[in-house]
Amino acid sequence: MKVCVIGTGYVGLVTGVCLSEIGHDVVCVDKEELKINMLLENKLPIYEPNLDKLLLKNIEGKRLVFSKDIASAIRSQDIIFISVGTPPLADGSADLRFVEEVAREIGNNLNGYKIIVNKSTVPIGSGDWVSMIINDNTPDNTDIEKKSKIKIGESYNKPHFDVVSNPEFLREGTAISDAFSPDRIVLGSSSKRAIDIMIELYKPIINQDFEPLDNIYNQMGKKPVPVITTDLVSAEMIKYAANSFLATKISFINEIANICEKAGADVKRVAHGIGLDKRIGERFLNAGIGWGGSCFPKDVTALTKIAAEYGITTQLLNAVINVNIQQRLKVVQKVQEVLKIVKGKSIGFLGLSFKPDTDDTRDAPAITIMNNLANLGAKVKAFDPIVKVAPDSLNAKVILCQNIDGIFMDSDLIILATEWEEFYKIDYKKLGNLMREKNIIDGRNFLEKVKMQELGYKYIGIGR
Ligand code: UDX
Repeated sequence: MKVCVIGTGYVGLVTGVCLSEIGHDVVCVDKEELKINMLLENKLPIYEPNLDKLLLKNIEGKRLVFSKDIASAIRSQDIIFISVGTPPLADGSADLRFVEEVAREIGNNLNGYKIIVNKSTVPIGSGDWVSMIINDNTPDNTDIEKKSKIKIGESYNKPHFDVVSNPEFLREGTAISDAFSPDRIVLGSSSKRAIDIMIELYKPIINQDFEPLDNIYNQMGKKPVPVITTDLVSAEMIKYAANSFLATKISFINEIANICEKAGADVKRVAHGIGLDKRIGERFLNAGIGWGGSCFPKDVTALTKIAAEYGITTQLLNAVINVNIQQRLKVVQKVQEVLKIVKGKSIGFLGLSFKPDTDDTRDAPAITIMNNLANLGAKVKAFDPIVKVAPDSLNAKVILCQNIDGIFMDSDLIILATEWEEFYKIDYKKLGNLMREKNIIDGRNFLEKVKMQELGYKYIGIGR
């Protein structure tokens, strides 16, 4: 099928590559020249493990092309994915400027039956809003249906486009495997025609019978993927409810960690003990400095804003957000407990990104903690395996080290903020000798507490 993906960020790029890999003809467009120029030179504007290999394979296979010409791409393709950013506004609600811009472009270039797929996380009820914008911008050319190029199954009544909500559940760092073996595919639309076509589009993923991605992602005879077909609004709500529940689970275990700390329990043992209950599940019960990234913070806040429009106070979600904010500040308190005087002390951070295997530092807990400590007069140094340029959100006084040794050199305290695999393999014995004081706060409970203590470190975990 002929697919256009508008927006080449984390979601758009992975979606485009995945659909071309399963055999569709995909045109990815973006208005940002820099991004498109990089992609036209087969370079990735983002870091996502294995995406580069698949990108190259499908560009060479001529199933995946990049363009700045959004109008031509809309006119030549039949299924149009909207995967542009919906960043949070100052008040926490979603900024829909880019979605609106794209919907208008689609309206202006509607030259036959199209399916418009909302991939971006948009507020509840946006599907209808997108339809309205497209309708308002569609030339009143009545014979538009006659040119419709998609004929699948029995004839249908002919609107010249249908909107489908198809929320993504990709996690950064594991986006490729999430895309090829999702837990479920959610399709929300009032149009049976559109749902049928989307099921056709995803058939290789649903049946898990696409060509194995040699050593990129080893699919172990996965069982078929469940498809949830529902109305537009429920599909949009599924996305918000999923992210909000995951954030709730993390804030829950962080609250338990804070109690464990005082009571002398070990939250890792507690998490293991409760996680074996199938009703709870072991995943997303890792206590630490909390959640960040471009989704949880934005989606949980946006859901509280949507609820407020209906006069609903989201007491639980507000608490989930507050626990998460406090979790970062608790690390600052721990630093003060260990160092007493923070001013003038040298603190090294391991990790900047909000989670491992990504270069994304949006709302990363490490950034909040570094900025707080720098403002308290500490000399803050940071190392990240992938992030080599200080993001704008980072206090100017924070020094980015190009190697790990610099983090330990003359430091009074190390904070592990992101659980990159390579931070597990550091020679803490050797590097510890470079430190003024061997203190370490393990913000992700990632290291072996007893081993670190045997190496002479004062080890402080979260809830341990
Ligand atoms: C999330 C959702 O998982 C994904 O389904 C959705 O499509 C996008 O948002 P992502 O933000 O990429 O994905 O990362 P995720 O792995 O969910 O982690 C989010 C944050 O929670 C990270 O900061 C991570 O460090 C933190 N986290 C995760 C914990 O603190 N504890 C955990 O147990 C798990």
